[in-house]
Amino acid sequence: MRIWGGRPLEGSLRVQGSKNAALPMIAASILHNGKTVLHNCPRIRDVDCMTEILKMLGAKAWWEENTLFLDCSKVFCGRIHKAYAQKMRSSIVLLGALLGRFHKAAIAHPGGCVIGPRPIDLHLEVLQSLGAEISEEDGMICAQCRELKGGAYRYRIKSVGASQQGILAAVLAKGTTHLLHCSSEPEVQWLIRFLNSRGADISWENQEDICIHGVEQLEDVEFEIPPDRIAAGTYLCAGAITRGQVTLENVILEEIEAFLDVYQKIGGQYEVNSGKLLTDSRRVEYAIPYLETEVYPGFPTDLQSPMMAVLATVPGLSHIRENIFEDRFKAAKGLREMGASIYIEGRDAWIEGGRPLQGARLQACELRGGAALVLAGLAAQGETIVENCEYIERGYEHICKDLSALGGILERDTGR
Ligand code: UD1
Repeated sequence: MRIWGGRPLEGSLRVQGSKNAALPMIAASILHNGKTVLHNCPRIRDVDCMTEILKMLGAKAWWEENTLFLDCSKVFCGRIHKAYAQKMRSSIVLLGALLGRFHKAAIAHPGGCVIGPRPIDLHLEVLQSLGAEISEEDGMICAQCRELKGGAYRYRIKSVGASQQGILAAVLAKGTTHLLHCSSEPEVQWLIRFLNSRGADISWENQEDICIHGVEQLEDVEFEIPPDRIAAGTYLCAGAITRGQVTLENVILEEIEAFLDVYQKIGGQYEVNSGKLLTDSRRVEYAIPYLETEVYPGFPTDLQSPMMAVLATVPGLSHIRENIFEDRFKAAKGLREMGASIYIEGRDAWIEGGRPLQGARLQACELRGGAALVLAGLAAQGETIVENCEYIERGYEHICKDLSALGGILERDTGR
């Protein structure tokens, strides 16, 4: 991706559908011997990858613009091999969906990840608590049971994926399941709404405990995927880093409250008018003495790198602590190459902001860190080239087009 920086972004944008809400819904469609229609589904690599796995398992899948049609009536209980499972970590939730429908599932170990070790112990434990026997054979995780039975499980750590895993497995299980200390991220809440809209019986007992009464079967459904809160935050960071004025047309305000708090602290201003979020970053100029990533409703880890890029441009010392993933400061290397002063020790990063950023040739090495480099390029003097932008396209449907629509100058080099 080539970016010529230096222009404040201005204008209005419609945010894509949420990647992290769509993926478990696609996996969940396996639970039903019938049709699922997902409107506002982002057409991105990870969604394609999940859909490919479903097709390999016998599903029919087709698109009409941003509507994804899935017919899982002919799905069978196939093994999900390494070539599929290692492309996308979140494919692990297919274990719960396949177990729910066939009482049997096998998937290759999802492998490591560049943002630090990402274990799957909680995913396996919650399945075991519902009666699944788990074994590992030749790098495949195999799960089976005679039937899934309602049970109780308490997560040691709040995990979005493992909470979704437990929900998927419990929906058709016999009896009642209590999942305690679950993640309350919007993507868990949306999965529950999606499943309830097709006949599941899932309720929150309080802010972190979920009760699932197993049902016999689900129904066909059409569902609208919500806007992507992380894409929204990324585009607001693009406005902030260029001191522009960005308006978002469809955003769920309460899902980005923690982000907006920080945005205000750095000098950003916003108002909501006729359902639109209007932001003004012309006075973004304050460092943040301490910002930590937390589970929802705290500041999301996925917006930590984009915010780090913004903080590199404001005078003063900012401090970020990353509490969710180890080793999620990959963007710092590229930002330093552009002239930023960032010091990292373990989970802490100190950013001495305000030095001018210079265009550079950089490598994206993961999704959100890669997006942070694109933002830095928009603020830098001269030309920035971000290589490996396939990582970025895993999560952003039209990042070049969207940022160009706001007046950014950037293009995707097709390599031809
Ligand atoms: C999801 C999101 C990701 C986001 C993250 C945290 C998707 C596709 N991805 O990832 O974008 O950054 O939530 O909001 O929705 N953990 C364990 N054992 C497990 C599972 C997780 O120890 O079995 C730990 C992880 O190492 C991490 C923490 O739990 O430290 C939170 O991870 P988790 O919430 O599971 O992230 P994902 O669901 O993988």
